[in-house]
Amino acid sequence: ALERTLSIIKPDAVAKNVIGEIYTRFEKAGLKVVAAKMKHLSKQEAEGFYAVHRERPFFNALVEFMISGPVMIQVLEGEGAVLKNRELMGATNPKDAAPGTIRADFADSIDANAVHGSDSLENAAIEVAYFFPATDVFAR
Ligand code: CMP
Repeated sequence: ALERTLSIIKPDAVAKNVIGEIYTRFEKAGLKVVAAKMKHLSKQEAEGFYAVHRERPFFNALVEFMISGPVMIQVLEGEGAVLKNRELMGATNPKDAAPGTIRADFADSIDANAVHGSDSLENAAIEVAYFFPATDVFAR
């Protein structure tokens, strides 16, 4: 089915100047960018976005990392976009990410892991709405 998913290019990958290389992977896989913005998240925004992880031991480090520099946030649309994006990203820990995935090629550690992608269709809807009003998402 045609789906939408939220993608974030994290501060490490923005600093490495690989936004375009990562967008090329989305496009080559048939995913369309239907909304996008660069943003330096506030602590509140990052904490709110990752609220499901609030009780996890890595929560504070994750938030500090996510506010360490600007991120590129986009909505990707395509057939099976949620799973397709997760396949392109590879495993959360770049040490476990398959060769040729975004994390294998651009990530340094489980925190500085280059990209975020929604893990389910349900969370995708929540995460898209967190950053983009419906009028800023462009069906195409
Ligand atoms: P992301 O997909 O953005 O979702 C939560 C993030 O927490 C994850 O990517 C990792 O960057 C980070 N993280 C740090 N430690 C862990 C861990 N042990 N398990 C899962 N995620 C972790």
